[in-house]
Amino acid sequence: MTDLYSETHSRSLNDPEGFWGEVAEGISWSKKWDKVLDSSGAPFYRWFTGGELNTCYNALDRHVEGGRGDQAALIYDSPVTGGGTVKTYSYSQLLDEVATFAGVLAAAGVAKGDRVIIYMPMVPEAAIAMLACARLGAIHSVVFGGFAANELAVRIDDAKPTAIVSATCGIEINRVIEYLPLLNEAIDLASHKPDACIILKRPEADGSLQEGRDIDWAEAMKTATPHDCVPVAATDPLYILYTSGTTGEPKGVVRDNGGHAVALNWTMKAVYGMEPGDVFWSASDVGWVVGHSYIVYAPLLNGCTTILYEGKPVGTPDPGAFWRVISEHKVRAMFTAPTAFRAIKRDDPNAELLKKYDLSAFETLFLAGERTDPDTLHWAEDHLGVPVIDHWWQTETGWAIASNCMGLTQFPVKPGSPTKAVPGWDVQVLDDDCNPVATGDIGAICCKLPLPPGTLPTLWNADERYKQAYLEEYPGFYKTADAGYIDEEGYLYIMARTDDIINVAGHRLSTGGMEEVLASHPDVAECAVLGVADDLKGQLPVGFLVLKSGVERNDADIVKEVVAMVREKIGPVAAFKLAAVIQRLPKTRSGKILRGTIQKIADNEDYKMPATIDDPAILDEIETALERIGLARARK
Ligand code: COA
Ligand code: AMP
Repeated sequence: MTDLYSETHSRSLNDPEGFWGEVAEGISWSKKWDKVLDSSGAPFYRWFTGGELNTCYNALDRHVEGGRGDQAALIYDSPVTGGGTVKTYSYSQLLDEVATFAGVLAAAGVAKGDRVIIYMPMVPEAAIAMLACARLGAIHSVVFGGFAANELAVRIDDAKPTAIVSATCGIEINRVIEYLPLLNEAIDLASHKPDACIILKRPEADGSLQEGRDIDWAEAMKTATPHDCVPVAATDPLYILYTSGTTGEPKGVVRDNGGHAVALNWTMKAVYGMEPGDVFWSASDVGWVVGHSYIVYAPLLNGCTTILYEGKPVGTPDPGAFWRVISEHKVRAMFTAPTAFRAIKRDDPNAELLKKYDLSAFETLFLAGERTDPDTLHWAEDHLGVPVIDHWWQTETGWAIASNCMGLTQFPVKPGSPTKAVPGWDVQVLDDDCNPVATGDIGAICCKLPLPPGTLPTLWNADERYKQAYLEEYPGFYKTADAGYIDEEGYLYIMARTDDIINVAGHRLSTGGMEEVLASHPDVAECAVLGVADDLKGQLPVGFLVLKSGVERNDADIVKEVVAMVREKIGPVAAFKLAAVIQRLPKTRSGKILRGTIQKIADNEDYKMPATIDDPAILDEIETALERIGLARARK
């Protein structure tokens, strides 16, 4: 007898057009598609070609027309604003705000196909701006607030936005982060200049608007004419989301309208087990893919209530913050990163604060962004008494590649595994020659093409880079750049990245990007940045610097300078605070830096002396350097 998951998974792979064609009936189309899957431009696949729809209509208008107007669509919960703020928008109210803001954007010259950069803290206006772009058929690109002006400038030059939407400040626990100086610096740095900036004035920071460029959000809303939905092609881009690549140059992941709406709406039930009307909370940030997919689009497409939380797991005000939000808003399922639970576990190991709250409505905790370590999994299971579901995905995929699908068949949880491939995904573990490895063997995790709807069709203005980065190494497959294995029961295990991406507090960062910054310091001859294991954040970046000969300055000063440079160029989110000056980097005789060996030393793992190392003594220096920066590791 086969289970619903297996049936659905087989059907999705054997008859993708039939399967996704049926799933697509869950979305309202202004014009039905001609073809479910268009392979004519392979390896560029397109879903629902010929179809037309509007994503905002599907997220808001159709629910109001269908009788959900008075239901809560979005609850803004901010423990960081004056004494705490909770504000609920019904579907009707959110629709009014979005239609009016679409009018503001249109008046500022934004039209279908134009780009709009959204550089906002976690306020409802961020979601309103995203949906307003979708309403106009404009393409939004949200930039996370923890990035520095330079990163924003790079994105401005790549996306070439007609307008930028921002706010006077964000709030980090109790620290006000002024956004306008960052925005102004970014616009100065960028070659492309937006026609207009629409600025939300927050009471925590005034900020002075620039005459002729800046528009006050609140003032503009008073006189704007609400704008209707503009139908777009299913294949038209909905958004660009920049993510770390292997260099400092971020990749602009493109998401289309049709496949995205179809897939995300379907995942709410199939993966998360949610019904329309349920309260779903994704404790992430709209600047990340999790925020795009599961704070804004998927819950609203599915008629759920979503929570936009401007706070942290700890410190706002205490490690009971998540329990308060779950109980106060009757959350049925929550999604966050394991690092958030590690922070709570660290500050309240016995979950004493949980006793203060009624979590009876809470049914499932979903974790992603990094592997859920077994300790965190068990801690959450023991204290919450609900299934804790690790699931695996990437910015590129937009939704889960592997999960325990709560709306299909619930399988026993195996610690360390995100369970099985979600319907739509043909996940295979391959060797270097593109052949499947034996069950249980580690290899490159790849997904057979075509990828399901809602995944990246390409990179913004970079078709070649898309092919090179994802499709060329394993012909016929999408390379996830994760390595792992599949066990005899079909459970997948994600073990490591195969590139230089590291994962810091659930945030994806490029060590190559950080190395570019360190290398630009005038005293640095060579450098390497690695992610070392960290109990709280999963990984932390650590830099090793070799100075140019003749440099006689104090090492500590140079370290301080490079730390400041990474913060200045990439942003605080890089969490780059540790670096050490060493005499030489360990290399092979052919000059390749032995990153794997440094990594093992830093993580206190056993390692073999590489046969090709040019000077074994240099490894002792790495150990001493790690001790110097407080990462004392005794060699086993
Ligand atoms: N704007 C400005 N600065 C920001 C920021 C933002 N939106 N987000 C983070 N930062 C800053 C932080 O204040 C911190 O600054 P500091 O170096 O001055 O202390 C720095 O960036 C690093 O942030 P982070 O790595 O998040 O560390 P933290 O110590 O502030 O918090 C956690 C640790 C675990 C509590 C936090 O990372 C967290 O809640 N993570 C949840 C995971 C998550 O949301 N993942 C997204 C994908 S699901
Ligand atoms: P991002 O694009 O920021 O979502 O990061 C994607 C990367 O995070 C993946 O390629 C993995 O390396 C890692 N990742 C995300 N979720 C998981 C998970 N559940 N288990 C293991 N690694 C994960």
